Amino acid sequence: MTSPLRARSISSASSSGRPSTVNRTSYTATLRLVPVAQAPPYNRGVTRTPPPGTGGRVFRRAPGANPLVAVRAEGSTLWDSAGRAYLDAAGGAIVVNVGHGRASVAAAMAEQAGRLAYAHGSTFTTEPLEAYAAEVGARLPVDDPAIYPVSGGSEAMETALKLVRAYHLARGDPGRWMVAELERAIEAADPDTVAAFVGEPIVGATLGGAVPPDGYWPRVAEVCRRHGILLVADEVMTGFGRTGRWFGMDHWKVRPDILVAAKGATSGYWPLGFVAASGEIHDAVTSAGPFVHGFTYSHNPVGAAVAREVLRILETEELIGASASKGARLRGLLEDGIGDQPAVGDIRGAGLLVGIELVADRTTRRPFPRAARVTEAVVGAARERGLIVYSSTGCADGVDGDLIVLGPPFVVTDDELVRIADTLDASVAEAVAGVPTLAV
Ligand SMILES: Cc1ncc(COP(=O)(O)O)c(C=O)c1O
Repeated sequence: MTSPLRARSISSASSSGRPSTVNRTSYTATLRLVPVAQAPPYNRGVTRTPPPGTGGRVFRRAPGANPLVAVRAEGSTLWDSAGRAYLDAAGGAIVVNVGHGRASVAAAMAEQAGRLAYAHGSTFTTEPLEAYAAEVGARLPVDDPAIYPVSGGSEAMETALKLVRAYHLARGDPGRWMVAELERAIEAADPDTVAAFVGEPIVGATLGGAVPPDGYWPRVAEVCRRHGILLVADEVMTGFGRTGRWFGMDHWKVRPDILVAAKGATSGYWPLGFVAASGEIHDAVTSAGPFVHGFTYSHNPVGAAVAREVLRILETEELIGASASKGARLRGLLEDGIGDQPAVGDIRGAGLLVGIELVADRTTRRPFPRAARVTEAVVGAARERGLIVYSSTGCADGVDGDLIVLGPPFVVTDDELVRIADTLDASVAEAVAGVPTLAV
């Protein structure tokens, strides 16, 4: 038994001009909830076989008998305990924007932790936090921003949604509580009940760098403003240069009311996210009383010191421009190589956020059945060749649909870009050919 579930509004454009399996007419996709009993076997059970030299007491995040034991990393390369090198074409989970092994980030972290590691945000503020908020505030596409730092993207989104509700309550508009998609949905729901529209400027993990048409975000912003609905930009993945601009919304000069960031803010060196609320929202909420909210690790001074140093690196090494130019180069290499494979339905993205959609039939856009586990086969084949890629499934209909997502550090070299493209070419060919019934 499955239940229909409307996905968040999405859209897709292809750098190759090929249509993707994403529904381009309505820019919406339908997700299906799959009961646990029907879930494919890859979702069930995680072995407790410990990798050599470990205790096996970790509740593992992913299935598989032999997780790699990572011991060090530098630039775009990770090494495991056996001394084997892996080219990190995923930047972890599209996180490590400034690259691995940055001594200056580690030094900033150690210096701040040695001086003051923790001071509770309800009682204290700190110099690094005040400085970071001022510095990052100047880069954000948010008017007169007020920054609420937390420990990651999920906490930041939770904070944002609570803030949306607090804003409407503070303005004496308690009837607004829903989160909607587009104007049609807004009208159907009654515009006076809709609190906010939440979306990724360029959809990352779930759609692999799907870039909307140019008019999309300006139109969404206009509809939201007209109805008094807040616009919340989820820039957890797209922020801090990932798409070749400081923030995804910068591509369309759209200024959300609330922006949510994490990942690239500290490039993985410290678990940090934040919510940037416009001055209007901050003032409306706080003038009605305190914003009753908080986490033990919010407003952390070490996180702020790390984020400051990451910001400095992004600026001084001009890494946002590097993301734009290297991303274009990577997509070109992929077009020239893997683009000729029959299983490649689309190559898309912006900056160094790149998605490759794999399909069973390029003409009809038919996806591979989920049971074939094509994504997993490609990830495995790439890993065997020393390449780490990010992946996603379900982009076609919530179950089927195979995506390989690339998000290497912005310091990735040209040789490494060529290696990523070549290795992926061989990995996809092997994965598809290795399943005879699926060979296309
Ligand atoms: C767009 C987006 N929002 C939110 C999150 C959640 O962030 P976190 O994993 O830091 O909680 C993610 C994580 O991948 C994300 O990609």
